Amino acid sequence: MTRTDSRALTADELRADLTLEQLQQLVGLVEYDDSRDPFPVIGMDAICFVVGNATQAAAYYQLAFGMELEAYRGPETGHRESKSYVLRSGSARFVLSGGVSPDSPLLDHHRAHGDGVVDLALEVPDVDRCIAHARAMGARVLEEPHDVSDAHGTVRVAAIATYGETRHTLVDRSAYDGPYLPGYVARRSAVDAEFVGRARRDQPRRLFQAVDHCVGNVELGRMDEWVDFYNRVMGFTNMAEFIGDDIATEYSALMSKVVASGNHRVKFPLNEPAIAKKKSQIDEYLEYYDGAGCQHIALATNDIVRTVDVMRSRGVEFLDTPASYYDDPALRARIGEVRVPIEELKARGILVDRDEDGYLLQIFTKPVGDRPTVFYELIERHGSLGFGKGNFKALFEAIEREQEARGNL
Ligand SMILES: [Fe+2]
Repeated sequence: MTRTDSRALTADELRADLTLEQLQQLVGLVEYDDSRDPFPVIGMDAICFVVGNATQAAAYYQLAFGMELEAYRGPETGHRESKSYVLRSGSARFVLSGGVSPDSPLLDHHRAHGDGVVDLALEVPDVDRCIAHARAMGARVLEEPHDVSDAHGTVRVAAIATYGETRHTLVDRSAYDGPYLPGYVARRSAVDAEFVGRARRDQPRRLFQAVDHCVGNVELGRMDEWVDFYNRVMGFTNMAEFIGDDIATEYSALMSKVVASGNHRVKFPLNEPAIAKKKSQIDEYLEYYDGAGCQHIALATNDIVRTVDVMRSRGVEFLDTPASYYDDPALRARIGEVRVPIEELKARGILVDRDEDGYLLQIFTKPVGDRPTVFYELIERHGSLGFGKGNFKALFEAIEREQEARGNL
């Protein structure tokens, strides 16, 4: 049996110069003994996207999100069907793929779903053990465990299906030292490091350090089925539960539950629409993504104010937060003292939530593609292990107060 120490840093975290203390704060790591875990998970390996134009998306994530290009696979490396760019920020790795040959299956996927997440890949210490457990628990195995090798060593991989057309590839890269996976070559960014601030002393080296959580939107009535899937198949535990009134206003309603790996490095909130007077934001996603899929990815930062300022200056659009959210005396009483003066948060539209463990600062981008589907969250945690539950209702109601003031509610 393979053991992993949940207090040890992963290879990706070590490369990102992250310390355990930083990580505990950034993503809310908890101590965990995985010796009895039937499906031990080291952490997120990569978030893999299919996009309409990977070449341009790679430039967007380098310029606007400050990510660094690390690896590439495409026609020039003997892979004629598609192009893939591997980008990194801290321990977070994104892989952006687009079809090149007209018969590429990626083009069919893109026709149906638009830009989106196809794979929430997980690094595991023992692929075969995970697959054996997943199969016994009824998971659909999309790829049997197999070795992939090149001059850098061998990676063992397999894949299981999750909601919609999303998968979890399982990767054991303990015997591999290449830039990503066999078939990929190291590729450096053509973007000027000075321009994006990486080489400047007065700028942060990166805009975010890790992936905090990845949210899935599933069909009405199917949230509990997927919570059960993660409990049974992957041994994930339920972290927090938001039902009904927590996220419901008279007009916007959704239900959400959160599952997490033992040490909380991997956290997957799952949303389903709830019946309300108007179309839920989850329904809108399901319609435009043509089914269940990944709704948003939360990126952990230790300086959300700086990150928002830089990203906004590079053209990233964030959701507006009405001034009434900040002027609400109940909010001010609820959040107490936080690192950043509330006027600074108000100027940027950054939200605050507090629970018994501490507080968090968060903000959401607008959808980054053409369809109203995938978007990002920036999150700065200070002890809170939550997801901004207190903000859902406050934010939605604040929006509705604005609507009412305009006579539109
Ligand atoms: Fe979130």
